[in-house]
Amino acid sequence: MPLVILCGAVRPGTRRLSQLADLPEVHQMLRQTCRDFADRELAPIAGRLDKEHRFPAEQVRGLGKLGVMAVEVPESLGGAGLDYLAYSLAVEELSRGCASTGVIVSVNNSLYLGPVLKFGSEEQKKEWITPFTTGEKVGCFALSEPGNGSDAGAASTTARLAGDEWVLNGTKAWITNCCDASATVVFATTDKNLKHKGISAFLIPMPHPGLSLGKKEDKLGIRASSTANIILEDCRIPRAYLLGEPGMGFKIAMQTLDSGRIGIAAQALGIGQAALDCAADYAQKRVAFGAPIAKMQAIQFKLADMALALESARLLTWRAAILRDAKKPFSKEAAMAKLAASEAATFISHQAIQVLGGMGYVTDMPAERHYRDARITEIYEGTSEIQRLVIANHVLKEYQV
Ligand SMILES: Cc1cc2nc3c(=O)[nH]c(=O)nc-3n(C[C@H](O)[C@H](O)[C@H](O)COP(=O)(O)OP(=O)(O)OC[C@H]3O[C@@H](n4cnc5c(N)ncnc54)[C@H](O)[C@@H]3O)c2cc1C
Ligand SMILES: *[C@@H]1O[C@H](CO)[C@@H](O)[C@H](O)[C@H]1NC(C)=O
Ligand SMILES: *[C@@H]1O[C@H](CO)[C@@H](O)[C@H](O)[C@H]1NC(C)=O
Ligand SMILES: *[C@@H]1O[C@H](CO)[C@@H](O)[C@H](O)[C@H]1NC(C)=O
Repeated sequence: MPLVILCGAVRPGTRRLSQLADLPEVHQMLRQTCRDFADRELAPIAGRLDKEHRFPAEQVRGLGKLGVMAVEVPESLGGAGLDYLAYSLAVEELSRGCASTGVIVSVNNSLYLGPVLKFGSEEQKKEWITPFTTGEKVGCFALSEPGNGSDAGAASTTARLAGDEWVLNGTKAWITNCCDASATVVFATTDKNLKHKGISAFLIPMPHPGLSLGKKEDKLGIRASSTANIILEDCRIPRAYLLGEPGMGFKIAMQTLDSGRIGIAAQALGIGQAALDCAADYAQKRVAFGAPIAKMQAIQFKLADMALALESARLLTWRAAILRDAKKPFSKEAAMAKLAASEAATFISHQAIQVLGGMGYVTDMPAERHYRDARITEIYEGTSEIQRLVIANHVLKEYQV
């Protein structure tokens, strides 16, 4: 029995897919499309993209053509005109092939397009959504700062009105997609005395005078997506680039993240699924003590716990998306989905390495990348601690005495 079972190859597409009794047909079709795309276009190159820190420009263009880069945008504005459940299914399937691509898609959809779609004027939607629909351009979302991430309300970047222009000054940190983006939503305070109620949201094209990028971060995972600081030095933009009303920025950011968290939950599901696929496949091929290790109960119990964590997180994720699509409150549910799915991805990818033994620890197999990629899902768009705070706030309100 050779030690190496085909380099990194995990049989694609053989698993029976999770179902809701009535997952609509269009959702099933989109899921299959993204599944095939992930198996064909992403999984085979994900390891190389990771190693080379390379943005998958060609693949992202392909996804643009499939409508996946603007899932919720109405067809009249150049999008696919589908709902959030569809979007979640797409992000999960793509992340199964390449978690970096998953986050690139997720940031363009929920963090960039989401707030423009929800809070933009009709002219802004035309200017900041439609011209981008060739699939060449991605957007980003700049909320965090070097000195405040979880405490986003403490943002110290300023925006001052000077005649017909806003002048922005400050540094935004950790901005996903920014080295490859054509536009960004930026949060800056227009009135420091009002604290978080003084924060406003702006649209800035990229590149733009007064806007520069810091060094590209060298990350543990999702290495094919770019992350860097955005530095604003007397960055002047027309007055019309304000998104929503002055002082609405914090609300825009929080509502955007409520939705965005469903996308990150979906990304985590994809990573967890990929790790489980890899472990379940390997366990049936690897022989030890004269039999496939899958015959050992110790390995079976791992696979069972991995599948259980994944399916429960998937149900939470689908529920959050379905509630959002039904225009029902979903903030608590989105936080639960993100928390459960990200911790599941960390757990599953950790266990997958154990199932693979030595092969889990080297780059010949994708398990080590899944483990590195999973970790970020517990940090961005609100750490696990912040999700617990959000959930606890809802619980305490529900049980108010
Ligand atoms: C790869 C990557 C991509 C990112 N992409 C983006 C992006 O596109 N746009 C963007 O705006 N930001 C982005 N971020 C930033 C990310 O959202 C923040 O890193 C995250 O919100 C945590 O903020 P922080 O790093 O400042 O940590 P801190 O806020 O300093 O937190 C440090 C620790 O303290 C804990 N903590 C903080 N406050 C509390 C509290 N009240 N109760 C309990 N525990 C607490 C945290 O949970 C954490 O464990 C990205 C980060 C990374 C690493
Ligand atoms: C990002 O979203 C915009 C807005 O709809 C879309 O036009 C664009 O094609 C997307 N980016 C890519 C790379 O597809
Ligand atoms: C927020 O972070 C900036 C640096 O990025 C820092 O100057 C500022 O003091 C921080 N705000 C608070 C309230 O801590
Ligand atoms: C922005 O910062 C520069 C220094 O980097 C300073 O000269 C300028 O006055 C600041 N502008 C505003 C509007 O705060």
